[in-house]
Amino acid sequence: MTTSPNVPIEPRVDDPHTFELSSHVTDSAEDVHVGLTLDAVRPPSEEEILKVENLTVEFPTEDGVVHAVRGVSYTLREREVLGIVGESGSGKSVSSLAVMGLLPRSARIKGRILFRGDDMLKMSARKQRGLRGRKIAMVFQDPMTALNPVYTIGDQLAEAVLAHELMPRKTALARAKEMLDLVGIPQAEARLRSYPHEFSGGMRQRAMIAMAVINNPDVIIADEPTTALDVTVQAQILEKLLEVKDAVNAAIVLITHDLGVIAGMAHRVLVMYAGRPVELGDTDPVFEEPRMPYTAGLLGSIPSLDKGSGSARLRPIKGTPPSLINLPTGCPFSPRCPLATDVCRSSEPPLAETDSGGHYAACHHWDRLAAAEDPTEFFRTESETVA
Ligand SMILES: Nc1ncnc2c1ncn2[C@@H]1O[C@H](COP(=O)(O)OP(=O)(O)O)[C@@H](O)[C@H]1O
Ligand code: SF4
Ligand SMILES: [Mg+2]
Repeated sequence: MTTSPNVPIEPRVDDPHTFELSSHVTDSAEDVHVGLTLDAVRPPSEEEILKVENLTVEFPTEDGVVHAVRGVSYTLREREVLGIVGESGSGKSVSSLAVMGLLPRSARIKGRILFRGDDMLKMSARKQRGLRGRKIAMVFQDPMTALNPVYTIGDQLAEAVLAHELMPRKTALARAKEMLDLVGIPQAEARLRSYPHEFSGGMRQRAMIAMAVINNPDVIIADEPTTALDVTVQAQILEKLLEVKDAVNAAIVLITHDLGVIAGMAHRVLVMYAGRPVELGDTDPVFEEPRMPYTAGLLGSIPSLDKGSGSARLRPIKGTPPSLINLPTGCPFSPRCPLATDVCRSSEPPLAETDSGGHYAACHHWDRLAAAEDPTEFFRTESETVA
């Protein structure tokens, strides 16, 4: 955990955020990235650091079993940034809370979570504690859920260090100050004595990043780290996250419902739908040549990527994601998919390699997207075409 054992974390797994692709992505996609980009930071190595294999998470509830995560697999290399994107409720947070060991006891977890080859789900509780918060740290969407309002920022940062390492408190506080400097909080020395409510939203998120990296982690999981912030502050925080990642030589799993945030920020992207990965690949090929209609639909709303921009309007994907208690037969996207055929409604496609290496999609008809001049055209309607 990113805080000391006596500072409880209450992760918010029920994300009230709704997915407003049309306006949200359109507004922010072009503004979010300023300054530092991936090209300016050290590239990933070939070393696999985190490997999630066929992870499933179910929650038994009064209404039935919620199939929140249905077979998520990914690898993360040293220093790599992997973006995980998908609508609210697609299983992004639950899959990462599983890695952090922060799911409620009722959760039924299966699969493997390998940290440097060691399965975390099979480790002793003591060994797990040694990794979580130290080697793997988390930045939450809302820092107020992770920061304790009754302790100063300095105390909480120092506790995060002391939970994993024996050292004089003064040394821990010096490290805390160093971290506040690193994340760009002015007058760090004085700010150590501030309480979380005395910080602005952006400053709190910076403090949260400081807490995540104070133990020099190998992996940072950032779950919608900028969603609660306005666009200008978002850009600053994302840039800071990249800078800090480079400083501590960590890899990042960056979770977002906003594809615009992934552009320029992630080496690879994993798109999730109804608890499953539906597309995976290097960010540029996935953005330029999506092989899963859901991704194409998401991309269609980003003006800079819309090749037909100016000639036709695109609209958000109609309909809502399926219930995770009663999933439809076949491809869960079929009720919303303009390419759906009978086979889609009867069998769920596996995530399989497409026509280019390292680019995977879960779609029976990815070749139709490949053949289309503009894969987003399927989401464009005649009536919306303007001269
Ligand atoms: N503790 C829980 N009990 C029952 N259902 C849960 C619990 N936590 C999350 N869920 C459900 O799991 C699904 C995936 O949630 P989540 O991973 O938070 O989605 P998101 O992609 O928005 O982060 C949602 O349908 C959510 O309601
Ligand atoms: S499998 Fe069929 S319904 Fe699912 S995304 Fe592909 S074309 Fe659409
Ligand atoms: Mg979430």
